[in-house]
Amino acid sequence: MRILVIGSGGREHALVQALARSPHADALYAAPGNPGTAQHATNVGIASDDFDGLVEFARTEDIDLTIVGPEQPLVEGIVDRFTEEGLRIIGPKAAAARLEGSKAFADQFMERHGIPTADFRVFDADEYDEASSYLEEVGAPIVVKADGLAAGKGAFVCNTLEEAHQALDEIVDDRAFGAAGDQVVIEEKMEGEEVSIFALTDGSHYVLLSPSQDHKPIGEGGTGPNTGGMGAFSPAPIVDGPLLTRICREIVEPTLQGMEDEGTPYTGVLYCGLMITKEGPKVVEYNCRLGDPEAQVVLPLVESDLVEVFDRLADGALETGSLRASSGAAACVVLASEGYPIDYDTGVEITGIDDAESLPEVSVLHAGTRLRPDGVLVTDGGRVLGVTALGTDLPQALDRAYEGVEAVHFDGKTFRTDIGEKGVRHLSEA
Ligand code: AMP
Ligand code: GLY
Repeated sequence: MRILVIGSGGREHALVQALARSPHADALYAAPGNPGTAQHATNVGIASDDFDGLVEFARTEDIDLTIVGPEQPLVEGIVDRFTEEGLRIIGPKAAAARLEGSKAFADQFMERHGIPTADFRVFDADEYDEASSYLEEVGAPIVVKADGLAAGKGAFVCNTLEEAHQALDEIVDDRAFGAAGDQVVIEEKMEGEEVSIFALTDGSHYVLLSPSQDHKPIGEGGTGPNTGGMGAFSPAPIVDGPLLTRICREIVEPTLQGMEDEGTPYTGVLYCGLMITKEGPKVVEYNCRLGDPEAQVVLPLVESDLVEVFDRLADGALETGSLRASSGAAACVVLASEGYPIDYDTGVEITGIDDAESLPEVSVLHAGTRLRPDGVLVTDGGRVLGVTALGTDLPQALDRAYEGVEAVHFDGKTFRTDIGEKGVRHLSEA
């Protein structure tokens, strides 16, 4: 099969690497890809928002299946476009991708279908006074969010009312997120540990990838500003068998059923970002794609042939529960540029990747890297690399990943030293 992967981050490197393991992957392309995807696929210089260019490429290269990594093209309707052109593609149509594209839509959808989430209210931008009084009425802590896509920066978890009013001003008055702030969502702050659950679905059937946990804040112990994710591990010991059953019954299945009932069946990857609260699992957010860096740990654990799985998904012929997963564990430690997520330099030379990859079960996934014309690999983003390792259990996967981290060098290399500790804590409590 001839396969095209759209995107250019660590998630897409992980996808291409996992697809390359299949004997059915006769040709693999990444658009635009990165120096990591180039190890397994042919990179083609077409941006992920250039729908005309991507359609033309898929046609002329006889692509059998396109897999979309990031949310933006999904929310903007790339699946609708490819489908209209008679091209096979994995992902939700725009109407279903609203689960990620509009937080107001997602919250109201969950309310309609009795899916557990935070208490919330939605306000239009011209209801500033009402939103402001609602903040006073509920008090802190409280969460204030721009409705639309804001590159992960539109959610403010506020511990004081002052912070909450500032967030409202930023979203509504300053329009810091443009049209994403046409509506503002105010939510109860939920307490607990966050878990990422990915379901691959054809609209009615689904298979789950292994539960994982991300580490969003930049600093040790979960301090400092939120990032795209500083590391991940899978499986997540906090999600035992009974909890997973509950997540399927109370969240995944009602979500798929609800989308089908509303005439917008959800296909592709459904990402349920959950908070495991004292009352049980609740949805923090839906995303319409794999997580990054969670993809880097869940995909290497898949033992089923991923090309076959996506092929069946595209045909609407998945069999629920049919995915085979490794009995081991995976961990990923993100190496970021100094100053990320606020301000950082790029173009810094990177060395030691081969040394890291010569260690047992270590793989270095590229996120923000670029090859200079002279062939030297340099940093090209905030999150630069994801050092990923497999192990028989989580402690071994973590030890191996951190050995890999020591082998890679670039000036300003920044990482958290406590990735996976929350998972190990649950293992020792079990
Ligand atoms: P979002 O932009 O909705 O993905 O939110 C980003 C992050 O903010 C989440 O991963 C959580 O850590 C946090 N967050 C969002 N909503 C809530 C909530 N209602 N309660 C607690 N934390 C939240
Ligand atoms: N790791 C969080 C996300 O992909 O949204």
